[in-house]
Amino acid sequence: MTDIDGATILITGANGGLGAEFVTQALARGARRVYAAARTPREWGDARVVPLSLDVTDRDAIAQAADAAPDVDIVINNAGILRRGDLLTGDLADIEAMWETNTLGPLLVARAFAPRLVAASGALVNIGSVLSWYAAGKGYSMSKAALWSQTEGLRLELAPQGVHVMGVYLAYTDTPMNAGMDPAGMNTPADVVAQVYDGLVAGAGELLADDTTRAVRSRLSQVG
Ligand SMILES: NC(=O)c1ccc[n+]([C@@H]2O[C@H](COP(=O)([O-])OP(=O)(O)OC[C@H]3O[C@@H](n4cnc5c(N)ncnc54)[C@H](OP(=O)(O)O)[C@@H]3O)[C@@H](O)[C@H]2O)c1
Repeated sequence: MTDIDGATILITGANGGLGAEFVTQALARGARRVYAAARTPREWGDARVVPLSLDVTDRDAIAQAADAAPDVDIVINNAGILRRGDLLTGDLADIEAMWETNTLGPLLVARAFAPRLVAASGALVNIGSVLSWYAAGKGYSMSKAALWSQTEGLRLELAPQGVHVMGVYLAYTDTPMNAGMDPAGMNTPADVVAQVYDGLVAGAGELLADDTTRAVRSRLSQVG
């Protein structure tokens, strides 16, 4: 169980569709401080928000962010990219970029902030995807499947030290990641983020944000 009220929260990819909603709802729920970490930090118009420069593929930047945010209670590994293309014929640079951003980046962030999270009995949230369990996303699915495994592995290491680890899985959500697609039937960022914070408060280890994700998760042996 992790309180949002009074907490200090660091959000990666804070300028994105879900990221900005994580910032806004953290403030609405009484967060003491929010580190809005982004490749291009911006002002938020609230004294509780501290903009931080953070590219999650840059190890030096991660170390600097950990130094600049020594009082974090909750880390939300939200930054992510989606590149389309087949595994066999797609651009390998795209697959590598998704691996570095969606898989390795969150691990580097977790390693940098783990000592503080242990000291604070805090929480780590990793934003996965329904495509963690459905391979149609090809290189993106590969990166998010590995993030799923990473989240479970980190839980094995961090939970005994008092850190709440939560994996979040969701299907299509109306953010810039899906620009140009019909938003009808998509999740809203507001709904997903509200569920994440409710899940943290309730002590959930895994959040399945919508019916599609729940259906895929429950039929893992039947999907390919
Ligand atoms: N939208 C969906 O349907 C959906 C579904 C399942 C899972 N997700 C996951 O949800 C998370 C948030 O995505 P979103 O939908 O909110 O997409 P989004 O609006 O595109 O936001 C993604 C954010 O990640 C940031 N980012 C990308 N590479 C980064 C890097 N190397 N270092 C730091 N930040 C970086 C982007 O920063 P810039 O602003 O600098 O580009 C952007 O602000 C992602 O992990 C995504 O995979 C989304």
